[in-house]
Amino acid sequence: MGLPTSWLLVSCLLGSCLFQSQGKVYPRDIYMKTPKFRRVWGGVQSNTGPNFGGWLLRILNGDGNFACGAAYYAPILVITSANCIYPYRNSLEGATVEGTAFSECDRENIADIDTIKFPEKFVYQKLYMDVAVVRLMEPIKGRLTEFIRLCTVKVQPKMEMVVFGWGFDSAEVQIPSSDPRNATVTIMSAKECRQKFKRNLKLSSTSVCARQPRNPRQCLYDGGSPLIYERELCGVVSFGSHCQDTSRPGMFTNIRRVHRFITEIEAEINAGDMGRSTRVAKKVTRKPKKKYNATSTRVKIKRLYRTGSVDPLEC
Ligand SMILES: *[C@@H]1O[C@H](CO)[C@@H](O)[C@H](O)[C@H]1NC(C)=O
Ligand SMILES: *[C@@H]1O[C@H](CO)[C@@H](O)[C@H](O)[C@H]1NC(C)=O
Repeated sequence: MGLPTSWLLVSCLLGSCLFQSQGKVYPRDIYMKTPKFRRVWGGVQSNTGPNFGGWLLRILNGDGNFACGAAYYAPILVITSANCIYPYRNSLEGATVEGTAFSECDRENIADIDTIKFPEKFVYQKLYMDVAVVRLMEPIKGRLTEFIRLCTVKVQPKMEMVVFGWGFDSAEVQIPSSDPRNATVTIMSAKECRQKFKRNLKLSSTSVCARQPRNPRQCLYDGGSPLIYERELCGVVSFGSHCQDTSRPGMFTNIRRVHRFITEIEAEINAGDMGRSTRVAKKVTRKPKKKYNATSTRVKIKRLYRTGSVDPLEC
């Protein structure tokens, strides 16, 4: 954690993102009512090139530093780990979610966070219901941006799944990479998992353990980062493991076991529970709008985008 990420965007503006757009370029950005099926990730072959799919996201705190990995589920809904995002819950001013797949058509693929929804039974630094739904102010733009489906398969021992990450939470092993990486992990039984932890690990009914790659440099364990099986989001990086000792299993939240929480939040939001943004919007109509402080990185980047030579009509 802690590396400034704004330089990435700037380097992209200076041309390198031209090389990053070999994925499926959609004709337009996602809007509030974009049906999920229209932008659903079709698997590794459908939107890869140098990106892993338009659904892979990272959450940046108010200072523009990496906070958590995440997955794009619906126009204004993002899935991450509750343990990872919990410390940021009261300082969401300036916190954003950013796509990892850029095309030369994109001026911006970042959205502000509105609110974060935690399961009622989640307790900080415990494994049970370690999932959070981040509600965005607006959809994440970008012609490569897309959604991922929730897991429909039963997660069972010996299944191989793919985890994504940058290595921000395992900086003791190696320097985090600027671009995301992937690693394959193998699901293990709860019994085997308990044995590996030796101590009386309280494995929760919503968690699943996976064997980490033996080589710590191949291990990825960034909080909230997605665990994928085929084309579906089956887990998120939970809490309690690290890459220093890969003999210890990685702990993931089993998306199938927290599926109901996610769809309930989705239904609530679709039914018009508007969150923080409406309250902010109301205030703005009465008072003159407060200008962003020009020293904010975010504003600087936006300005660069605006004066950039990228013409969306050519895309
Ligand atoms: C993981 O990365 C490798 C190399 O970049 C790539 O060939 C493979 O398709 C990736 N797997 C997934 C599931 O994205
Ligand atoms: C912006 O913030 C910096 C430091 O936080 C301060 O020195 C500066 O005066 C602020 N500018 C405006 C326009 O508020």
